[in-house]
Amino acid sequence: MKILSTAILSIIFLISCVNMDTVDTSATSLNNAVVRLHATEGNSVSGVVWFSKVVGGVKVRGTIEGLPPGDHGFHIHQFGDCSSTDGKSAGGHFNPEGVDHGAPTDEMRHVGDLGNIRANFDSVAVFEFVDVAITLAGGNSILSRAVIIHAGSDDLISQPTGAAGSRLACGVIGIANK
Ligand code: CU
Ligand code: ZN
Repeated sequence: MKILSTAILSIIFLISCVNMDTVDTSATSLNNAVVRLHATEGNSVSGVVWFSKVVGGVKVRGTIEGLPPGDHGFHIHQFGDCSSTDGKSAGGHFNPEGVDHGAPTDEMRHVGDLGNIRANFDSVAVFEFVDVAITLAGGNSILSRAVIIHAGSDDLISQPTGAAGSRLACGVIGIANK
């Protein structure tokens, strides 16, 4: 009897170990993503943006340096491809629903439309907000797609890109290590 209960306890312990490991891995991979931005040719923009799953959406927080003071269009673009020196290899705005460009607060918008970030007079943009359209899994997942920061501001109206101008930085969104 004692041997039997010891054996059962051992099995339960082993199963719980396996389960803990499984839960931990998937939680890490689905809850946090990160992108390091690299300057396109002729620019010196750099920074990191984190994406974290929260209740009601995805929290976006980042610090970007080397930006001209003012507003800069900030989008998720379709392809996780920053191989060209001008960032255009990332394609257009991530738009899985095939709708018009808009503001992050618009009901109809590209999933990738995150609006603008604002750089201060020290050329730094620090920001944190929650977006309701982007996700880290499923059809609106931003994993393996690109973040682009533009030279100009996104007017949130002009089609198909908000007239935000050239691309200052590009980075590919990946699964975060923490
Ligand atoms: Cu863009
Ligand atoms: Zn757009």
